[in-house]
Amino acid sequence: MLNQKGIVVWLFGLSGAGKTTIASLLKEKLENDGFFTVSLDGDVLRAGINNDLSFTEDDRSENIRRAAEIARIMLQNDIITICSFITPLEKHRALAAQIIGGHYLEVFVDCPMSVCQARDIKGLYKKAQSSEIVNFTGISSGFEAPSKSNLIIYTALESPMESMEKVYKYIIPFVQA
Ligand code: ADX
Repeated sequence: MLNQKGIVVWLFGLSGAGKTTIASLLKEKLENDGFFTVSLDGDVLRAGINNDLSFTEDDRSENIRRAAEIARIMLQNDIITICSFITPLEKHRALAAQIIGGHYLEVFVDCPMSVCQARDIKGLYKKAQSSEIVNFTGISSGFEAPSKSNLIIYTALESPMESMEKVYKYIIPFVQA
């Protein structure tokens, strides 16, 4: 049996906000402590299990639904699951929360659109601007700021380590067995 309590840390925010970076730093830190973790990331799921889904509102819901169902199974097995998905709309976050139930911890990875666009690590904002990519979050598809989240990290103002430490400090009481 694992000597930990399962939780689902759900990181959401714009593309390029730093969700995946924070998720991997957090995973590394928790593993150094001896915790067992699993990471579920939008790009990874969409490359495999969810490769039949587009970026329409409905397909995003389905993407989130499947991810949340997987996370729920992990939770039932006492696993710490770190999810990183844009999860753009309140209804998408509500769906994840409803499927996962208790032990769902929502973290808003807050980064201004202008900063994500300037970073444009994957070159997708440029493609969205020229309509080479459609339904792009923040450009041609909506993103709703949250009305409530357990925690907000500000990745344009904090270093990745600072943001990760904030999440770590917040979740650690929930995972200790
Ligand atoms: S979500 O909206 O359904 O939660 P998810 O996190 O799985 O999105 O996938 C987002 C990733 O898909 C982005 O980080 C980006 O690399 C890629 N992507 C490709 N097309 C789009 C698009 N139209 N809108 C947003 N992200 C896109």
